Amino acid sequence: MSNIAVITGAAGGIGVEFVKLMLKEKGIDEVWVVGRTESKLQKLRDEFGDKVVPVKVDITNDDEVNNYAKLLEEKNARVKWLINCAGTRALYKKGADLTRLLATIRTNCVGNMAMCYASIPFIGKGDHILNVSSAASFQPLPSNNSYAASKVALRFFSKGLEYELKTRGIKVTCSCPGWVATELMEFADDEFPPIGRLPGATTPENVAKKSIRDARRGKSICFPTFKVHRDYYLTKYLPNVCVMWYASHIETDRYKDFIKTGIIT
Ligand SMILES: NC(=O)c1ccc[n+]([C@@H]2O[C@H](COP(=O)([O-])OP(=O)(O)OC[C@H]3O[C@@H](n4cnc5c(N)ncnc54)[C@H](OP(=O)(O)O)[C@@H]3O)[C@@H](O)[C@H]2O)c1
Repeated sequence: MSNIAVITGAAGGIGVEFVKLMLKEKGIDEVWVVGRTESKLQKLRDEFGDKVVPVKVDITNDDEVNNYAKLLEEKNARVKWLINCAGTRALYKKGADLTRLLATIRTNCVGNMAMCYASIPFIGKGDHILNVSSAASFQPLPSNNSYAASKVALRFFSKGLEYELKTRGIKVTCSCPGWVATELMEFADDEFPPIGRLPGATTPENVAKKSIRDARRGKSICFPTFKVHRDYYLTKYLPNVCVMWYASHIETDRYKDFIKTGIIT
């Protein structure tokens, strides 16, 4: 039996930081890097060595997730860490692409749930599931609505799973980063303020480090920065009308039309 760490979205900005940490983790024989793009996964192996095993899975495709589960069985693998970091986002603009909008739900929510269900039979006592949600899960986000909805679903799913798996000694943690400087946040100049100007922006390295630390401590939820920790409690206890006013301005300060029409033109 080989002990493995599985990381979805491993070639992404935050994912690669998880890969580096898992390569240093004691007792891990292989780090399975999961994503859709084979060349990006192969690049990880070239960079970090043979312990990295590329596993091409589109997590929104049930057949591919089932094939991943078969591979776990064939290899007699024990999943010591399952880190679900794959994700995508889409702003609701005039003429927005429906497939791209719904990919948020299909990937961030359904796909990551599918990876949990496929992996659970191979996870045991003392092992970890770490799902990367977002501070976007704290409140609805007009204009980035499908993303926020997908992330709250993943956060609630993680909490339920934590209780379902408690008796088996499996720890489930949900990480909720705020703004992180990665490709995910690289929008065209006229679409979004540059990441550096967003309040409380942090690095992928910080997110990965804090998430692993909190997962190890058996925490249900990880707040990688003070700002998201504060926002979690503000959004929980402030009146809904204040929360929604704030939420309506988070991603839309530059879009006066949005405030009037509800659609970014
Ligand atoms: N960046 C932020 O500000 C921020 C804030 C809060 C939460 N997060 C969350 O953190 C996670 C990582 O984000 P990131 O910033 O590192 O994004 P990123 O650099 O864009 O990486 C996303 C990764 O997800 C993979 N992916 C997307 N769709 C997939 C699918 N259907 N099947 C398999 N893999 C898929 C991509 O792989 P391919 O390229 O091969 O498709 C890519 O490697 C996401 O869940 C994101 O929502 C990010």
